[in-house]
Amino acid sequence: MKKISIIVAITPNYAIGINNQLLWHISDDLKRFKKITSGKQVIMGKLTYESLPLRPLPNRRNIVITDDVNEKFEGCITVNSIPEALSYCNEDDESFIIGGGSVYRQFMPYATKLYLTMVHKDFEADTFFPEIDFSQWKLIEREDHENDQTVDFSYSFLVYEKIKINLDS
Ligand SMILES: NC(=O)c1ccc[n+]([C@@H]2O[C@H](COP(=O)([O-])OP(=O)(O)OC[C@H]3O[C@@H](n4cnc5c(N)ncnc54)[C@H](OP(=O)(O)O)[C@@H]3O)[C@@H](O)[C@H]2O)c1
Repeated sequence: MKKISIIVAITPNYAIGINNQLLWHISDDLKRFKKITSGKQVIMGKLTYESLPLRPLPNRRNIVITDDVNEKFEGCITVNSIPEALSYCNEDDESFIIGGGSVYRQFMPYATKLYLTMVHKDFEADTFFPEIDFSQWKLIEREDHENDQTVDFSYSFLVYEKIKINLDS
């Protein structure tokens, strides 16, 4: 089975972005993102790629999805469909889906791990993560940040694993 993980920061209303930008700047979250994804393969939509301050993301294999067959992103693998992106994913190395909304939605059925940063505050947004059916996911890690001096809200780092369905039982 391919090891496909999603990494995302969301609010309780599943908000993730506005005007092709993130809704917050959480330094610890960016550090966590870097630590978890470094040395790995990251897969993203064209709009997320264009929103990155530094691109391609260093020390990672960047895969960018676009419908435009003539577009090539320097230093990246450019693909034109979800199956083509999936063809670069394998069982041994964890691949990370890093956004945005449209790409998360299309990869959700393939993901077996979710690295979620839950921001405990609502924000105005134009881009959303698909609703998560938490009955299908098991929480395996939780780290709460209540008193971060750099932002005026609390947040939690959560890791979930997809619950395997045993068809024999
Ligand atoms: N909170 C977080 O953790 C987080 C993480 C990442 C991004 N974001 C936010 O999410 C927002 C961007 O998300 P978005 O949904 O607007 O855009 P996106 O998913 O980043 O990119 C959408 C583009 O990807 C391409 N694409 C998507 N699916 C495709 C497919 N099946 N085949 C071919 N191409 C495909 C298309 O590019 P073409 O138009 O070139 O065909 C499409 O316009 C921004 O606000 C960003 O800051 C938030």
